[in-house]
Amino acid sequence: MYILMYILVYVSVILIIGVCSDGFDNHRHVRHPASNSLSPSDVILELGQHSIQSEQWNYLRLARYWPQSFCLQARMHVPTISCTVPDFVHDFTVHGLWPTLNTTFGGLSFCNNSWPFNTSTLQSLVPLMTKLWPPLWNNYSLWGHEWSKHGTCALDLPALHGEYRFFAHTLGLHLRYNITRYLSQSNIRPSETQMFSYSSLVGAIWNRIYFIPWVQCIPSKSPRYQLLFQVVLCFDKQLQLIDCESVTYFICDPDQPIQIPPINHPD
Ligand SMILES: *[C@@H]1O[C@H](CO)[C@@H](O)[C@H](O)[C@H]1NC(C)=O
Ligand SMILES: *[C@@H]1O[C@H](CO)[C@@H](O)[C@H](O)[C@H]1NC(C)=O
Ligand SMILES: *[C@@H]1O[C@H](CO)[C@@H](O)[C@H](O)[C@H]1NC(C)=O
Ligand SMILES: *[C@@H]1O[C@H](CO)[C@@H](O)[C@H](O)[C@H]1NC(C)=O
Ligand SMILES: *[C@@H]1O[C@H](CO)[C@@H](O)[C@H](O)[C@H]1NC(C)=O
Repeated sequence: MYILMYILVYVSVILIIGVCSDGFDNHRHVRHPASNSLSPSDVILELGQHSIQSEQWNYLRLARYWPQSFCLQARMHVPTISCTVPDFVHDFTVHGLWPTLNTTFGGLSFCNNSWPFNTSTLQSLVPLMTKLWPPLWNNYSLWGHEWSKHGTCALDLPALHGEYRFFAHTLGLHLRYNITRYLSQSNIRPSETQMFSYSSLVGAIWNRIYFIPWVQCIPSKSPRYQLLFQVVLCFDKQLQLIDCESVTYFICDPDQPIQIPPINHPD
C-alpha cells in the first residue's frame, strides 16, 4: 500500500514537473562570493562575452510557476500529497531554466549523467534558492532534478557551465524579470473573486518586456474558470529576451476567465 502510494506520488510529481519542460550587461565576470549571505543584487550576475558554441539547443525557457496552483494541481492528482507553499512565499517561484531546441517539443534533457548534482559549490546560493526556488513537495529534490535534466544540457554555454553558474543565472533572471510586479502594474493580483482574461495577462507582461511570454493554465475545480499555472519567458544564448514560440502544453482557454488563486499558507 505504502509502496503503491509512493509510486503514485512520485509518478505524479514527475509528470507535473516533467511536462513542464532582461538581458545581462555584457562586460562583467561571474563572481563566486565567499560569504554565505548573498543579497539578491549580488545574484544578478553578469555575462561575459561568450560565443555560441552549441547547435544542439538554441534558446532557453525560464519557467516560474504560481505556487498555489502548483500545489492545487499536485493535490488534484494525488489527494494525499504533502505540497505546501512555505509561509515566506508570496510570489511566483522558480521552476527551472530549460535549454530548448525550437524543433523539439520539450527541449533537451539529461544531457550528461556523469555530472551528478552536487551542492558543494552552491552553499552561498542556498539561502536565496530556498527563498525563491523552494521545492514545494518536501522530499522532492527539485534542484537536483532541474540540474540533471536541464542544467547538464546547458554546459556548452560558458555562462551556465556548472551548478553555480546555472543556478545563479537562473536566480538572476528571475529577479530581473519580476512577473508579480508586471502583473500588479496592470492591477492584476491574486484574488478569490476577480478573474482575468488570457489576453490581459499576456498583455500585462508584454507591456513591460515587449516580448511574447507563455502564460499557462490548469483547470480549476469549477468549469467556469481556469487557474494561472506558470509563466515562461524565453531567452537567447546571450540571455537576452526573445519571443517565445506558441505555447504547447498547459494551454489556457483564451475564452475562459483565469483566476490567480491567493496563496494559502499552512497554519
Ligand atoms: C529555430 O531557431 C532558428 C535560430 O533562431 C531559426 O533560424 C529557425 O527558423 C527556427 N526554427 C523553427 C522551426 O522555428
Ligand atoms: C560531462 O560531465 C563531466 C563530469 O563533470 C565533464 O567532465 C564533461 O566535460 C561533461 N561533458 C560535456 C560534454 O560537457
Ligand atoms: C561534491 O564536490 C566536492 C568538491 O568537488 C567533492 O569533494 C565531493 O566529494 C562531491 N560530492 C559528491 C557526492 O560527489
Ligand atoms: C522525507 O523522507 C525521509 C526519509 O525518506 C522521511 O524520514 C521524512 O519524514 C520525509 N519528510 C517529509 C516532510 O515528508
Ligand atoms: C517581485 O515584485 C514584488 C512586488 O513588487 C515583490 O514583492 C517581490 O519580492 C519581487 N520578487 C522578486 C523575486 O524579486
